[in-house]
This record gives sequence, C-alpha cells and structure tokens, in this order.
Amino acid sequence: MDEVVRLWSVRRRYGAVTALDDVTIGFGAGTFTAIMGPSGSGKSTLLQCAAGLDRPDAGRVEVAGVTLTGLSEGRLTRLRRERIGFVFQAFNLLPTLTAEQNVGLPLRLAGRRPDRATVRRALADVGLAGRERHRPGALSGGQQQRVAIARALVTEPAVLFADEPTGALDRATGHEVLGMLRRLVDTAGQTLIMVTHDPVAAGYADRVVFLADGRVAGRLDRPTPEQVAAWLAAPTAATGPDPAGRGAQGLGGVGHGVDVAGGAAC
Ligand SMILES: Nc1ncnc2c1ncn2[C@@H]1O[C@H](COP(=O)(O)OP(=O)(O)OP(=O)(O)O)[C@@H](O)[C@H]1O
Ligand SMILES: [Mg+2]
Repeated sequence: MDEVVRLWSVRRRYGAVTALDDVTIGFGAGTFTAIMGPSGSGKSTLLQCAAGLDRPDAGRVEVAGVTLTGLSEGRLTRLRRERIGFVFQAFNLLPTLTAEQNVGLPLRLAGRRPDRATVRRALADVGLAGRERHRPGALSGGQQQRVAIARALVTEPAVLFADEPTGALDRATGHEVLGMLRRLVDTAGQTLIMVTHDPVAAGYADRVVFLADGRVAGRLDRPTPEQVAAWLAAPTAATGPDPAGRGAQGLGGVGHGVDVAGGAAC
C-alpha cells in the first residue's frame, strides 16, 4: 500500500528533553491511525513534525512524496497549505469570521479566491449546510469542530492530522465527530492520523500506535476500546501473540521502529 506519510529516525529535542527519539513509522493511504500514550510521550511533537509545523533535529519526514527536511520556510508553508490538513483540540477558528469565511481562509491564504460552491460543499460534507453565516460564538462545540474539519479539508489535503479533536467535546458530540472522521476515511479514502487519550475514540481507528518516552512502544491493529484500555494499563502484557488474532503487538525485540502502512486488513 502507498504511504502518504513516513518518518525515518526522527528525533526532536527541546533543551534537555528528548520529545521524539529515533521514530521510524509509516502511514498508509486511506487509513485511520490513532496515536496514544501518556502525557509528555511525544504525541503532539510527532504530529507537528509529520505535518511540517515543527522541524526534527535529525531524521527525515516525507509527506505525499515530498521530503520536508531541508525545504525552505516558503516551500514548507506552501506544502502545508496545499497538502496537509490539521485540526486542533481548541478548534482555532477566527471568532470574527463566519463559518464559510473560516472555511475559505486556507484558499485565500493559498492565493485562490474561495469559490462559494466549494466552501458550501465542504460545510455540507460535515453536516453544516445552513450554518454558513454563523460565527463560531453562535455554534456548539461540535459544530465549531466540524467547521475546523471542513476548513482543514477544503484544500483536499493528502493527509489530515488531528490532535485530540474530541478533547474539548462532551462524549456524545465527540462520537458524532469521530463517526464523521471515520466516514471520511471509508467513503473519501482520507488518510487520517489522530492523537487521542480516549480508548473509545481510538476504537474508531484502523490501528493504534502507542508512544512512550518519545519512542514507538507498540501497536494494535483493528483495536477495540477494551484492548486499547488493556494495553494502556499493562503495555508489556500485550507483547505476545494475541489469541483473538486481532494483532496486538509490542515491539520489544524489534527495536522501536514500526510500520503501520500494512493496510486496513492487516
Ligand atoms: N515547545 C516546547 N518547548 C519545550 N519542551 C517541549 C515543547 N514542546 C514539547 N515539549 C516537551 O516534549 C515532550 C513531549 O511533548 P508533547 O507535547 O509532544 O507530548 P504529548 O504526548 O502530546 O502530551 P499531552 O498528552 O500532554 O498533550 C514533553 O516533555 C514536553 O514538555
Ligand atoms: Mg499533546
């Protein structure tokens, strides 16, 4: 399967803290990966390095066939605008702009005139037809996050990153957003990489990658919330072959690189 995002031996240090330590990982096209791990384990740093929002100190990052390492700021910014979508926990919408103005923003920044039909379709795709003229303050949290997702998708990015996208939402609203993200993968073939602390949210993904101390510590394919919770409670207990054949894998003897590009059926 084609990989949309790949990291080779990526390291990121902040002063004395090693946030990412020799991470090698790939993400297949049209797959949904959840990244989990304790607070401070490097999840956001991984997303930011993979999305070109942060620069690794060592190693290589490739997105949609382009090596980010060594790109000028200008080229990196252009690549981010055109090929990469990013959704934050806190929505990050501009409060003075309407939903459709927020969604049109990446097109404006890319020097394109936002085509109203494109913007409206992006909003309709996230279930917000009829809300185009609402400002963020007049929308619920779930609706605001949907606007943020429409904004991230309006440029048809090769990959959508989401850092705890349901972290600020109540449970029911969070599930609506997760169901929508899942449908994007299933129906539009969107590649999606999401950080979450919630085993139930991780259960929407095709696979979970666990980080610990800046390293990939294991993975689960086709995870159930129960398996994820069990892994988080006792990571080493999941290292053996899984009798249910659901693909629990620790990486004890394999080093800390892992390939998660094996497709939804792996
Ligand atoms: N800009 C920064 N300056 C200094 N240290 C940083 C910076 N960003 C991250 N770190 C450190 O790097 C480590 C990894 O941080 P990161 O934000 O990636 O963790 P995380 O897994 O996303 O945690 P959380 O679940 O709390 O969001 C932490 O020790 C953090 O303090
Ligand atoms: Mg984080």
